[in-house]
Amino acid sequence: MYRSHVLVCGGTGCTSSGSQEIILALQTELKKQGLEKEVCVVQTGCHGLCALGPIMIVYPEASFYSMVKVDDIPEIVEEHLLKGRVVKRLLYDETLTDDGVRSLSDTDFYRHQHRIALQNCGVINPENIDEYIGTHGYEALGKVLTELTPDDVIKTLLDSGLRGRGGGGFPTGLKWKFAKASENKQKYVCCNADEGDPGAFMDRSVLEGDPHVVLEAMTIAGYTIGSNQGYIYVRAEYPIAVQRLTIAIDQARKYGLLGKNIFDSGFDFDIDLRLGAGAFVCGEETALMTSIEGKRGEPRPRPPFPAVKGLFGKPTLLNNVETYANIPQIILHGAEWFASMGTGKSKGTKVFALGGKINNTGLVEIPMGTTLRTIIEDIGGGIPNGKKFKAAQTGGPSGGCIPTEHLDIPIDYDNLISIGSMMGSGGLIVMDEDNCMVDIAKFFLQFTVDESCGKCTPCRVGTKRLYEILDKITKGKATLEDLDRLEELCYYIKDNSLCGLGQTAPNPVLSTLHYFKDEYLAHVIDKKCPAGVCKALLSYEIDPEKCKGCTLCARICPAGAITGTVKHPHTINKEKCLKCGACMEKCRFGAIQKH
Ligand SMILES: Cc1cc2nc3c(=O)[nH]c(=O)nc-3n(C[C@H](O)[C@H](O)[C@H](O)COP(=O)(O)O)c2cc1C
Ligand code: SF4
Ligand code: SF4
Ligand code: SF4
Ligand code: FES
Repeated sequence: MYRSHVLVCGGTGCTSSGSQEIILALQTELKKQGLEKEVCVVQTGCHGLCALGPIMIVYPEASFYSMVKVDDIPEIVEEHLLKGRVVKRLLYDETLTDDGVRSLSDTDFYRHQHRIALQNCGVINPENIDEYIGTHGYEALGKVLTELTPDDVIKTLLDSGLRGRGGGGFPTGLKWKFAKASENKQKYVCCNADEGDPGAFMDRSVLEGDPHVVLEAMTIAGYTIGSNQGYIYVRAEYPIAVQRLTIAIDQARKYGLLGKNIFDSGFDFDIDLRLGAGAFVCGEETALMTSIEGKRGEPRPRPPFPAVKGLFGKPTLLNNVETYANIPQIILHGAEWFASMGTGKSKGTKVFALGGKINNTGLVEIPMGTTLRTIIEDIGGGIPNGKKFKAAQTGGPSGGCIPTEHLDIPIDYDNLISIGSMMGSGGLIVMDEDNCMVDIAKFFLQFTVDESCGKCTPCRVGTKRLYEILDKITKGKATLEDLDRLEELCYYIKDNSLCGLGQTAPNPVLSTLHYFKDEYLAHVIDKKCPAGVCKALLSYEIDPEKCKGCTLCARICPAGAITGTVKHPHTINKEKCLKCGACMEKCRFGAIQKH
């Protein structure tokens, strides 16, 4: 028995801001104070507030310390762990109130969230199977193997309304039903942990913080569809996830929760890892399976669907990490419990990786139907530096931008599609008035051009042409005809590409064209970039009234474009100017403007 538990976040975000050093310093300091038998240090997965890492929670008080540094450790150990006095200066400021310390669950960041897929992340030690079992882990598997038939499981999933969290939103129960219905001695269960969308790290956090939940769900899937072998396809750039999965698989095998005769039910199931090299297209299900087979990860036409002919030509069930993470709880709490959350056709919760121009960047799990406004203003803490919200991008390279007018739309699969975006896997990038929407579309197109596998011409050549037109627009060289060609080409690529990558690649262009046409027109007609991003369209000027002739700008200009004498107004030679903005940053008198 320990008197105190100190939970230190060991997710990728906190690890990169130094949580491993914090753990070492903590262990050393506890030893120094003779507290190592009284205080237990636990490394957990992500809590969500990654921007404030490294994060530490001390129980039983549940004091939430953020941005902890190695130098803070002696004070935390001496003051809090030895003398029982909370170190107020390190507390997450939202938990600090006039009359004491507020619980973390009452803060704006957590108040609107509901954690199902993330329920164990930040709570248990992911490298210790006993901690998972201690939170009802593997109970759902026990129930399934000893009390339920495969059809019972499928009915529960169908009734729950769970839909795939990997992007498409296909009903999970239906997918399991199809895979079960395929007759074959050998079937496979796959987990898609490729997560290639820029800015997304939902699946990584589940794997790092709660790897057993995926193993448990896949084993339930194996029993349900009649498979004895599972594969987790995880990108090699996720070393912490790979390490924790390896440990978890090993532990589950030792406990008899993977392998032969699980729970004495006569059912055998095992799971192996396959590492992906980080190509976005390998997240597409047919490409993923081709890659597991050891071949180049290229998509193939569907049908046949994986449920009929998948991995090694056998019936295969493939789900996303977050989809699996919901399943044990649905089995334990029942379909109605799950279906009571969310909207008409989108049940339960969804995890989003909040990024971009937002104060609380990190990971959030919200009930379906929560509005974007709640996510951005309440959970996300609004836009930094008093800037104005411009758009939120959901669905990554397959999605679109949502403008202010739709901030109050309840988020679910169908609503997002109806406003020209999509759920995708859960990346949510917030943009403010300083973002240029043409530039954003160009960024996503650059990504798809780089990631297109090249198998079919509409995608390989078409996305490149789209990129070129966007580039022409940002350089002020496009005409109105180019805008028409841009739109026409978008629909052609959507209609003629072989896989989802090409079919959705034009979405960022179409949605920005739809909501921000005036910005495109400003680039094309006025040769201006209203947000001041597109370099070729900018010009820097010095206001002679404000210029004090301090010479700072002339000294910093890398192009020698600024001339003038001390105490006299300076001027910029536009021919020479590289538009780097260094002079504007340097001028203390606000005399330099960009137009
Ligand atoms: C280009 C492309 C990339 C994809 N990347 C992922 C991914 O990284 N993770 C994922 O779960 N699904 C991804 N998908 C969707 C999968 O093909 C598949 O629909 C999904 O994994 C099915 O699981 P679910 O039903 O649980 O959502 C991608 C699809 C496309 C077209
Ligand atoms: S649409 Fe693009 S990514 Fe998909 S198969 Fe064709 S070329 Fe490859
Ligand atoms: S830094 Fe500003 S005030 Fe100084 S010379 Fe340049 S423009 Fe004028
Ligand atoms: S923007 Fe850069 S290159 Fe242009 S005048 Fe200023 S410092 Fe010189
Ligand atoms: S990685 Fe530590 S809070 Fe997200």
